[in-house]
Amino acid sequence: MNHFLDIYKTDPAALRGMIDQAGQMKQARLGRPKGAPDDDQPLAGRMVALIFEKPSTRTRVSFDVGVRQMGGQTMVLSGSDMQLGHGETIADTARVLSRYVDLIMIRTFDETVLTEMAEYASVPVINGLTDRTHPCQIMADILTYEEHRGPIAGKKVVWCGDGNNVCASFLHAAGQFGFDLTFTGPAQLDPEEEFVGMARKAGSTVVIERDAKKAVEGADLVVADTWVSMHDSQSSKERRHNLLRPYQVNPELMKYAKPDALFMHCLPAHREEEVTSEVMDGPQSVIFDEAENRLHAQKAVMRWCLGV
Ligand code: CP
Ligand code: NVA
Repeated sequence: MNHFLDIYKTDPAALRGMIDQAGQMKQARLGRPKGAPDDDQPLAGRMVALIFEKPSTRTRVSFDVGVRQMGGQTMVLSGSDMQLGHGETIADTARVLSRYVDLIMIRTFDETVLTEMAEYASVPVINGLTDRTHPCQIMADILTYEEHRGPIAGKKVVWCGDGNNVCASFLHAAGQFGFDLTFTGPAQLDPEEEFVGMARKAGSTVVIERDAKKAVEGADLVVADTWVSMHDSQSSKERRHNLLRPYQVNPELMKYAKPDALFMHCLPAHREEEVTSEVMDGPQSVIFDEAENRLHAQKAVMRWCLGV
């Protein structure tokens, strides 16, 4: 069963195939209206459930549009409206949904909800973000980097801020796609050691550097994300902001990166917090290409899951 649960759980050749196919499918659609069908309709007759236990703009819309472009149908479900939010087990939900739909995408809090769904579903399951990882985002980010600058292998990616779920999937991708990753942020918010270890074991150089300017020196790609994720308590906001303020991405910090370095952010961003508008709207920023590429990358992920 081709579940897409995490980048480190997916074969590197399969990941490369998905990125390449995403690029080709994007090219094939150039100039077409968003609602126009693709020439190939690999999801014709397929039904996809999109389950959200947290808010979403990009994941929700890009999956929905992607399925429709490929000829399939979707149902968007909120966790709280399902019996899932009212005591039915994940295992039973997975077995029931598998009788109705061909593919399940779920955005949830606890990673065990995702892994249990995958264990009991008899159809593929895709991770649409958990508290721990966000693999679909990083597939779009790899596609975006390579469209602008060519192969990401051997490049230096610098993550600025919280060692969160998106950072975790970047670490997984470092190992699988062969790039190096420097994390710069406060020690209290370091990425999980297990994930740092995985990237190093796969041959990537992973550096933890507390000084943001030193970290960004020679960067090919600088990445930021929100300082308070959806799974973080609102009561931790002030403490997190105080810890993370030295890691804001602004024009002064970007000067330390290579002149042709790109800036990425998965969005939604909090302008003037983790990144300034000058950087977000500046010439190095590719944030809206990233957002668009969620669509193309996930279409390839879904095709791989379904083997179509
Ligand atoms: N980047 C991302 O996953 O955005 P949404 O939360 O809007 O889906
Ligand atoms: N780290 C953020 C990513 C949102 C797409 C969060 O989990 O809220």
